[in-house]
Amino acid sequence: MINQQQRHIPVMGKEVTELLVTDQKGVYVDATYGRGGHSDLILRKIHASGRLFAFDRDPDAISAAIESHGLDRRFEAVHSKFSRLKAELADRLTQVKVSGIVADLGVSSPQLDCAKRGFSFLKDANLDLRMDPSDGVPASQWLQHVNEKSLARVLSQADERFARRIARAVVEQRKRKKIQSTLELANLVEGCVPRKEKNKHPATRTFLALRLYVNDERKELAKFLPQCVDILRRGGRLVVLTFHSVEDRIVKHFMRENARSFSAPDWDPQPTGPTLKIIGPVRRPSQEEIRSNRRARSAVMRVAERIG
Ligand SMILES: C[S@@+](CC[C@H](N)C(=O)[O-])C[C@H]1O[C@@H](n2cnc3c(N)ncnc32)[C@H](O)[C@@H]1O
Repeated sequence: MINQQQRHIPVMGKEVTELLVTDQKGVYVDATYGRGGHSDLILRKIHASGRLFAFDRDPDAISAAIESHGLDRRFEAVHSKFSRLKAELADRLTQVKVSGIVADLGVSSPQLDCAKRGFSFLKDANLDLRMDPSDGVPASQWLQHVNEKSLARVLSQADERFARRIARAVVEQRKRKKIQSTLELANLVEGCVPRKEKNKHPATRTFLALRLYVNDERKELAKFLPQCVDILRRGGRLVVLTFHSVEDRIVKHFMRENARSFSAPDWDPQPTGPTLKIIGPVRRPSQEEIRSNRRARSAVMRVAERIG
């Protein structure tokens, strides 16, 4: 059972489970448990002999997983980054082969809604942005010593058009006073960008950039995707949901690259063909889903199947 106050509505839940679960007796991985919306739907669909391993790097998500699904013998919560997918499963399974993996990237509603986690530019709190508060340094600490050029680079990696201007403003501001809180940073950014996008807070990309950086999210994803190919059974599916173009680009390129056929040179004794087949077009939530869950509005879902 999911605690209502800590709820995260699973995005495209029906589509995810329909495309993911191809063998009801299989082993599945939810790489991003959050509050278990997708895990819950997978558990409803799989057989008594199926299994589900749910990863999350956030200790609050793991406590919620144990509370909600801990008694289900098919389920195991794994407090780990998904970049450790193979290693964690190797500790738990004699043969690491799975029938499906879902990754619903980004942050959960409780992470955004709980002010003290410091993820939201709308709620005043310590500027933290770490998914696992015991790992790495809070964003406020990093902003205190990063040089202007590196900060501008990190901001532009999240497609922030005014990266240099914002980086300069941060460096000027911290000479006077440490930027400690979410609202201090949000107001600073708002005050220095010349043009505002419609329906988007001017600090959206700055917060995204810092979150991606302090959690090393792009590297996490780049380490995770090849491991999925290694452990999926033939016919097993990988379903990935992203919420911004930075992550979607990584997933799109990875899937396309692995689905590409190429002619191996004739001296290659073990030529390798494509390892993935892309299943269907890119999927997005319906207008009806967006109306009932605004956080679904930027979701993009990509699905691939293990072949070869
Ligand atoms: C969008 S939420 C998932 C929501 C979930 N599908 C649900 O329906 O409740 C993303 C979750 O992934 C976790 N996460 C993000 N990056 C991670 C990583 N590299 N390793 C493990 N967990 C990660 C976050 O802590 C967050 O709880």
